[in-house]
Amino acid sequence: MPGESFYLTTPIFYVNDVPHIGHAYTEVASDILARWHRQAGDDTWLLTGTDEHGQKILRTAVANDTTPKAWADKLVKEAWQPLLETINIANDDFIRTTDERHEKAVLIFLQKLYDDGFIYRGEYEGYYCVGCEEYKQIDDLMETPDGDYAGQLVCKIHGRPVELLKETNYFFKMSQFEQPLLDLYESQPDFIQPASVRNEIISFVKQGLNDLSISRSSFDWGIQIPWDTSHVLYVWFDALLNYITAVGYGTDQATFDRRWPGTHIVGKDIARFHAVIWPAMLMAAGVAVPKHVFGHGWLLVGGEKMSKSKLTGIAPNEITDTFGSDAFRYYFMRAISFGQDGSFSWEDLSARYQSELANGFGNLASRVVAMVERYYDGVVPAPADYSEADLVIQKTVADAATAADAAIERFAIHDALAAIWTIVEELNGYITIQEPWVLSKEEATRARLGTVLYTTAEGLRALAVLLSPVLPEATAKLWESLGLSALGDVKDQPIRAAGEWGQLPVGSKVSPLDALFPRIETAAPVA
Ligand code: MSP
Repeated sequence: MPGESFYLTTPIFYVNDVPHIGHAYTEVASDILARWHRQAGDDTWLLTGTDEHGQKILRTAVANDTTPKAWADKLVKEAWQPLLETINIANDDFIRTTDERHEKAVLIFLQKLYDDGFIYRGEYEGYYCVGCEEYKQIDDLMETPDGDYAGQLVCKIHGRPVELLKETNYFFKMSQFEQPLLDLYESQPDFIQPASVRNEIISFVKQGLNDLSISRSSFDWGIQIPWDTSHVLYVWFDALLNYITAVGYGTDQATFDRRWPGTHIVGKDIARFHAVIWPAMLMAAGVAVPKHVFGHGWLLVGGEKMSKSKLTGIAPNEITDTFGSDAFRYYFMRAISFGQDGSFSWEDLSARYQSELANGFGNLASRVVAMVERYYDGVVPAPADYSEADLVIQKTVADAATAADAAIERFAIHDALAAIWTIVEELNGYITIQEPWVLSKEEATRARLGTVLYTTAEGLRALAVLLSPVLPEATAKLWESLGLSALGDVKDQPIRAAGEWGQLPVGSKVSPLDALFPRIETAAPVA
């Protein structure tokens, strides 16, 4: 029997350019949450994918002398799908907005809204930012005094000129959802997280909502409006629908009922689309709204949001080639509170790699395995009577497992890691105090040595299970080295039971463990 549904989505990424570590950050956070829930036995589904229509992609393709579809195919194959391997993402599906399954279901949704009177034809004039793919209000713009665009109105996010557009478009009656949205935010206080994003959205909606222009007729790279094929669908309306078209909306009711409603992880820059437009669309169509929209912070470079268009993008493999994917995953989740902005630095990454992963966790694992080999020929000994110090370890493990699970429930991945790391620290301190190398010298302390080594090895067993969503490679190696493969893969071990003491079978045969996080000679590549 599958457990409770946990359907998690990442944003779908624009294929106008290759990924940088900001995109990878969203993917990793979502993947860790999904792996955790999967390991907890929840009926988990992780969706990611690409956003391929709209003017931004069209212009990039034209600039590269190709068609938008050919451009998208190339970028998906050469950049976006390989990203998932680079950072070890275990997604269950990958949707492209050019997939037939998506386009088909979008038409069903649109037609329903049209038939039910939520769409009308009207005139629109406004400033459009192609970078954001969004009509802008005057407050979203600024005049630049100097530089390439001196004297022009530019978008505050992209720093590029906006375009004044006047068109006859189709409109979605979003204004009528102002009150229902405010009611939603109030009745489900955890719908938008964290609080900073929630507050911003509530005050935005309270200022009043306009109807939304949802079609364009000046270019044709998009899904055609079914009742008027001279228009294509607005790219955001198209893109948001991926979350339901990927799980069977309009085509496979059983799957849809099983998965939906889902939870969305997005950058705070696009939280408004997800927490305002998207639930309004769903309400109009009579579909349940998402469970949660979590808007995480930005990776900053020099105090600004990292972005390719500002040439501050760092490619994920610049980091993983040196440090490995586990370290990438760990670093960003540990160093930045999920929900807040954070700065990346090579120095901080190297320092944490060395002190936390190599010396803290990796060294602990190697030492314990080596001592079981040396003192017990590689066979995990039985514990004798537990002393106070051993019981402290057992309590640390149990408390950490509970705290980590509670932290994941509230999307606080950094808190989950901090809780799990108390086990690493306690075990390292325990070994220093218990001095197993001294206990090994006398037959009289042999029983005590067994207890100490069992305690440390069992602590490692719990660590492997709890860290598997974050460090899938290192924990798989550790699991095998602890002789635990007979229990199945570490990624399948029930994570909510990880803190229950005594699961490591006495008599398990350990095998040599290479350094989980080898020393790195040259830390940062030269810029
Ligand atoms: N295609 C839209 C999303 C449609 S979802 C229905 C889009 N794509 S994007 O490629 O520009 O960016 C998607 C996401 O990448 C952002 O929401 C954010 O999660 C992530 N990031 C992009 N730059 C980032 C940083 N500098 N820092 C953290 N995350 C960043 O918007």
